[in-house]
Parts: sequence; structure tokens; C-alpha cells
Amino acid sequence: MKNILHIISSPRGEASVSVQLGNTIAQRVTETFPGSTVTQLDLSVNPFPHIDGAYITALFTPPELATPEVKAALKRSDEAVVQLLESDILVIGLPLYNLGVSSTLKSWIDNVVRAGQTFRYKDGVPDGLAKGKKAYIAVASGSVFSEGPMAAFDYAVTYLTGVLNFIGITDINVVRAEGLAIPGLQARALEKAIEAIDIV
Ligand SMILES: Cc1cc2nc3c(=O)[nH]c(=O)nc-3n(C[C@H](O)[C@H](O)[C@H](O)COP(=O)(O)O)c2cc1C
Repeated sequence: MKNILHIISSPRGEASVSVQLGNTIAQRVTETFPGSTVTQLDLSVNPFPHIDGAYITALFTPPELATPEVKAALKRSDEAVVQLLESDILVIGLPLYNLGVSSTLKSWIDNVVRAGQTFRYKDGVPDGLAKGKKAYIAVASGSVFSEGPMAAFDYAVTYLTGVLNFIGITDINVVRAEGLAIPGLQARALEKAIEAIDIV
């Protein structure tokens, strides 16, 4: 029985390939671990704010000096950190936009990567505090990045994998529906990605 957190960052609802792929992964995990729960966090419906001055000030305010304003500035981030830490399995939808992750996904990352809560430095070395979780990254992209001429531009998956590693999540399975803008590949891209899902 697993606590699955499915993060959606495409605004396209059920038409979204990363949502369909993420839903299928979450369903397969549930079949593999009966009794699991799936919590959907739809960042296009409930986006996190960009990092602003109040948030940064709050981050660096010692807890004993926290005013109601400071606490308010950290509230959503605090809740998102707890939600992340309480999950066993993350399913993260990654619709590729201009070679990067969506800005809504970036804002979620900015709110959950928190010193002392999801990472720390131990003897000068990063030490992730969100250990023991598995992550599936459900990628949807117009081009092909797993091989070929665009492989050198695979920044988004490299970035997301790196951030997850940094907070201690190293068991990561990347599932790609790619070539969605390429005639000859687009028709079977999602089907091929679904065939490649490997729940272990
Ligand atoms: C604004 C925008 C930028 C995009 N940039 C890229 C890109 O840089 N590379 C790429 O391969 N596909 C790109 N795409 C195609 C999307 O990755 C593709 O449509 C994907 O299916 C989106 O995910 P979704 O179906 O979950 O919404 C872009 C799409 C949009 C709307």
C-alpha cells in the first residue's frame, strides 16, 4: 500500500499526454500495490507563487522570530513539503516547454526544495532528506530526446532528475512519450510510452 502523489503540470486536462501517461503510471502502481491512495496535485489549477521577497525573507527568519506575516509567506510551502515527505511514490508529469519544465512545475520545485527540510549540507556535502521514495517522470515532448540529434538538449529531464537526487530521491524511472510533433512517431508515442512502464 503506497501513498502516491501525482503532480500535474500541463494545463490541457485529459487531452494532455503527460496527464494520460501519469494517470496510467499511477493506476499501474495501484494495481501493483492494492490499497494505495492517489493524491492529484494539479499545478495548473492551484499554481504556487513565484519566489518573491516576502518568501525569501521568511526563509531566512529564525522560527522564534516568525511573525504572522512570515508564517503566512511559508504556509503553502510548508504544506507542500509535508505532502511530499508523506508520499511514498511521486508521479511527476513533465510537458516539455521550450526545452524546459513548465513554470508551474518549477514553482512547485522552488517551494519544496527547502534547507533543513528536504535537504541539508553535511560536512559540506549535500544530503537529501526525502529519502526512500520512488519517482516516475512522465515526459511528453514534440521532439525525441532519448536519442538522436536532440539528445544533447535533454535539459528538462536532466534538471528534474538532478533536483530529485539533490533532495534524496534517487530511484527514478523516466517514461517518455516523445516525438509527438513528428509524423510517423506521433500516432504511437503514448502507446509506446505506456508499453515501457515498468513498475518495480
Ligand atoms: C509553448 C510550448 C512550447 C513547447 N516547446 C517544446 C520544445 O521545446 N520541445 C519539444 O520537443 N516540444 C515542445 N512542445 C511540445 C509539447 O512538449 C507537447 O505538445 C506535449 O505533448 C505537451 O505536453 P502535454 O500533452 O502534457 O500538454 C511545446 C509545446 C508548447 C505549447
